[in-house]
Amino acid sequence: MKFKPMHAALLAAALVSTSAFAQEPIVIKFSHVVANDTPKGQGALKFKELAEKATRGRVKVEVYPNSTLYKDKEEIDALQMGSVQMLAPSLAKFGPLGVKEFEAFDMPFIFPDKQALYRVTSGPVGKWFFNKLEAKGIHGLAYWDNGFKDMTANKPLRVPADFRGMKMRIQSSKVLDAQFRALGANPQVMAFSEVYQALQTGVVDGTENTPSNIFTQKTHEVQKHMTISDHGYIGYAVIVNKNFWDKLPGDIRTELEGALKEATAYTNRIASEENEQAVEGIRKAGKTTVYTLTPAEKAQWRTAMAPVYKQMEGRVGKEALQAIEKAVA
Ligand code: LMR
Repeated sequence: MKFKPMHAALLAAALVSTSAFAQEPIVIKFSHVVANDTPKGQGALKFKELAEKATRGRVKVEVYPNSTLYKDKEEIDALQMGSVQMLAPSLAKFGPLGVKEFEAFDMPFIFPDKQALYRVTSGPVGKWFFNKLEAKGIHGLAYWDNGFKDMTANKPLRVPADFRGMKMRIQSSKVLDAQFRALGANPQVMAFSEVYQALQTGVVDGTENTPSNIFTQKTHEVQKHMTISDHGYIGYAVIVNKNFWDKLPGDIRTELEGALKEATAYTNRIASEENEQAVEGIRKAGKTTVYTLTPAEKAQWRTAMAPVYKQMEGRVGKEALQAIEKAVA
């Protein structure tokens, strides 16, 4: 009997903490490496807005841009460990995880245009790629667009011979490594957050990226030349920690799926425009000569890079390559 007041106090404390817990929102930490004013940066913020609205505050999305939480490779490890719940890495960054098939997206000139790309990502082929992630404890939710890549350096890059001996920064993709070796360059894998300084200090001579990434990272301030070549593609897989996702209440998962669908449409709608504006921004900054390849020069690039397909078929797998090639045809 004499313990009764104690019991009551404990019960009251338990009730308070249970109701406090019930009101705690589910937190989704969404980490990425680019600036807010890029297609991915805007997409992440749009998802935050829509997800919080759709779940009426039951979910809180914390967006961490610009590698403020994790760099390229670290962020995928962090997702697997559950330190973050959501990412959107470039499709070129799944090799170190052991999912090499995604590197098929890095093949030179594989997508003739955005429509061909969407035929791949929006259909069964896109799903087939996502299934490869499940065994790694990762669930793929959507593909987000960025755009086609261009080259930068401190010298004009117009024909394949111009690349000879150049140290070029690449994402962690063996296909990109092969692409630059085919041009006679020396590729170097480097985290996105380190590129500006590496270019500034001459650790590397040049790089490839989309105009929106080049502009927002101020790459154009340390590179005198940019070649509009559209020789490859950068897009993203929006992924979540599978365990986290599977354990969400069903109604919340449905609301988040709806928010993501809308955020995906938004991102893919703004991507081309963001990249066009970035090219304008680079031109206006006046520090970089922007050159567009002629069709004849582009043909030379295609020929020089063509061997990459045979060289890398064993790595990305025939199935992945053929699935993409069939969908784009
Ligand atoms: C890069 O590392 O160049 C890109 O993958 C960065 C990004 O996420 O667009």
